[in-house]
Amino acid sequence: MIVNSTHPGNILLGVTGGIAAYKSAEILRLLVKRGFDVKVVLTENGARFIGAETLAALSGHPVYSMMFAPSRNENIGHISLSDWADLFLVAPATANIIGKFASGIADDLLSTVFLSCECPILIAPAMNVRMFSHPVVQENIKKLRELGASFIGPESGELACGTSGKGRMSAPDAIVEATIAAMRCSRDLEGISFLISAGPTREMIDPIRFLSNRSSGRMGFAMARAAAARGARVTLLSGPTAIEPPSNVRLVRVVSAEEMRDEALSLLPDHQVIIMAAAVADYRPKQALSHKMKKDRGDVSLSLIRTPDILQEIGASASGKNVLVGFAAETNDLLENASRKLLKKRLDLIVANDVSDVGIGFEAEENAVTLVWPSGRTRKVGRMAKDALSDLILNDVLQIARDKLCL
Ligand code: PMT
Repeated sequence: MIVNSTHPGNILLGVTGGIAAYKSAEILRLLVKRGFDVKVVLTENGARFIGAETLAALSGHPVYSMMFAPSRNENIGHISLSDWADLFLVAPATANIIGKFASGIADDLLSTVFLSCECPILIAPAMNVRMFSHPVVQENIKKLRELGASFIGPESGELACGTSGKGRMSAPDAIVEATIAAMRCSRDLEGISFLISAGPTREMIDPIRFLSNRSSGRMGFAMARAAAARGARVTLLSGPTAIEPPSNVRLVRVVSAEEMRDEALSLLPDHQVIIMAAAVADYRPKQALSHKMKKDRGDVSLSLIRTPDILQEIGASASGKNVLVGFAAETNDLLENASRKLLKKRLDLIVANDVSDVGIGFEAEENAVTLVWPSGRTRKVGRMAKDALSDLILNDVLQIARDKLCL
């Protein structure tokens, strides 16, 4: 689908029954303002939280709720709605509708539309924190992701039920950005090969102790998941992590910086775009003991030596046939330090990551970054979920790949 500025496309917005339904009016308003034609499917429970008249007035279309309209003239089939849509957005999506989607239950208009939908699907969950973390809901989300649906949020914060935790629907403007990214991309990375690194490395002191850092792998895994969902062939080169890797990528596990370097260099010839989101240890113990270090020696000093700088080696050896993207985790002088790394490692783009705030960057579900190009151009991207951020970064990476690799 080609997105143009006068009519960027048709969006079918599903609204289900949760307190966040009031925010769907704002999502709708923002989408219409950006030129999208939006039709709304409102579930019976959704109508308890927001009036169909409000959504009809904002969209300029009748709101669709019933499978079988009272009059034949008003009847609109689920097939014609799903045929019309370029993207199906469900915001808010309750645990109930996610469960129906995941198990193929089609007992109302919205769940029936889902089954007949061939366009990209974006789901913005909203529910109580305990419901969201329930293994059944997590399993349903995993299944839908594997089937190609994208998710934005939920975020952590205060919930309508009086508790706080992960379950709050993402902000309307973040959902709109993710919608636009999803509209633009669908399978736009098909035919491009990505090598994406993630997680920390471990530098062994002895068989049970190591030096490492707080990287969870979330950022790199999110990049890999987003690239694969857009049709890319992805190899994910990961240090030790505890989170679930995407199932539709090739996963290569390593432990140390040296192992990551060896794998990266051997995988390099088969990949066009290299994205290093891993937090590679800069130092390792000069000698790893083969036995457990005993404490009867009293105080000890560790002698540390530099690990290989993987990205710098790749930058020095790449033949111009690769796109090289780095991340820079900085606690101070963000742009200055990131720009220096960009030039030193001969990168096409660096994602400057302010890690001084505990809620973003390392371990967190969200990130806030500034993209820096070799020309000195910069673009600040506000705080958002790592999944949504990955799509925004990939849009720029694709542009660079098209220019540099003549795709
Ligand atoms: O994993 P998460 O918990 O989701 O956290 C995400 C993150 C904060 C780890 C990620 O967003 C990030 O910023 N990754 C890069 C962290 C880092 O080590 O930055 P750096 O400034 O030290 O390195 C700059 C670049 O060179 C990075 O692309 C890094 O992968 C690469 N590098 C660094 C050292 C080294 N020896 N070899 C490398 O290739």
